[in-house]
Amino acid sequence: MGGDIHKGLEGVLVGESGLGKVDGENGALYYCGYIIDDIVEHASYEETVALLLDKELPEQTELDRVEETLRERRSIPAEVDTVLEGMADAQPMDALRTAVSMLAGHDDDPDDMDRARDKLLGIIAKVPTIIAAHERYNQGEEPVEPDPELGHAANFLYMLRGKAPGEREAEALDAALKLYAEHGMNASTFAGVVTVSTLANVYGAVTSAIAALQGPLHGGATETVIEMIEDVGGPDNAEDWVAGKLEAHEKIPGFGHRVYQVTDPRCQHFKAHIDRLPHEEYDEWIATIEAVREAVEEALGGKGIWPNTDLYSGTLYTMLDIPPRFDTAMFAMARVAGWSAHILEQLEDNRIMRPRVRYVGELDREWVPLTER
Ligand code: SDX
Repeated sequence: MGGDIHKGLEGVLVGESGLGKVDGENGALYYCGYIIDDIVEHASYEETVALLLDKELPEQTELDRVEETLRERRSIPAEVDTVLEGMADAQPMDALRTAVSMLAGHDDDPDDMDRARDKLLGIIAKVPTIIAAHERYNQGEEPVEPDPELGHAANFLYMLRGKAPGEREAEALDAALKLYAEHGMNASTFAGVVTVSTLANVYGAVTSAIAALQGPLHGGATETVIEMIEDVGGPDNAEDWVAGKLEAHEKIPGFGHRVYQVTDPRCQHFKAHIDRLPHEEYDEWIATIEAVREAVEEALGGKGIWPNTDLYSGTLYTMLDIPPRFDTAMFAMARVAGWSAHILEQLEDNRIMRPRVRYVGELDREWVPLTER
């Protein structure tokens, strides 16, 4: 088989999309043509879901319909809740992946692709409930039923804590969900699209995406950044810490990106929301992040390695009393919108994904009976 091999599919186009435009050269991000700055400033996460699923800003009636569907479909089946209790000590992403897969068993026709959009809205609605219920079980507490009076972000914090959040906190989480909602054909989105390209059902496609997101090179980096900042232990240690990691040829979480050749445009928005929350007790933490950023930019900026969004997102979650162990699950809570949009887009003009590999093994080898090996 001739042709160039693109390791990691770097630079390979697998289709056309009207969803996320990731402008790596200029450091810009667009959802269906709307720049992320406008999305963060003007939309809610629910409105962002509607935009991504339908590729148009919703009129009031459609937005009301999406919001109502998301509120109505938040509760999870009792059997799923029982499994989450049994998995109380499992990693949040393992629990989320299992629970989403189980939802197929509570759908009267999971393979009905004509209702894929409706099924995906049901999954988007349930992901926060699954994550919150699992965390409550992990803490030895009973889950809190969703509150239909609260918006998507506020309701998650309510289910996590048992009391409604302040407006500023709800706004900060809503912003985080919007910032992580969509990002073109990243690894987890591609996993979902490959799965649905065989016409496997949407529960399986989202399960594939969750599985791919968990890795520390992708969504798992949100948690490893927190571990990094704890390990550095303060801004004065940053330069030596970074030098040591680079000496050991280790990747530094929160930096680098396959597409962005400059700083990820989402970083500034996370920093803005960090600044708006009470952060006196986090000033040393934030100073450490900035010291690491300066050291890495100094050392690797010339190689085109700059901060990505994961450098800051974990700090915002920590400031919202969201434990680092489920920072990646928070990423999934947001990205399930982008996964859903790309799954629907693939179904509009589907062809099964089937790449090739160049075979470099031997051929026509002589068979050796077991007794003679
Ligand atoms: C996300 O794709 C998306 O859009 C993802 C995402 C989204 O919203 O969906 O933006 C979310 O996943 C952000 C990325 C989170 N991951 C991390 O922060 C983990 C640390 N980053 C790296 O592992 C890496 O930068 C990747 C995985 C993000 C990108 O990997 P690439 O494009 O395959 O680059 P590479 O591993 O081939 O590295 C190229 C060079 C290497 O040096 P050389 O061997 O050529 O000398 O750059 C170096 C790497 O060692 N390098 C780093 C580095 N990232 C790349 N060196 C130190 N620290 C890093 N973080």
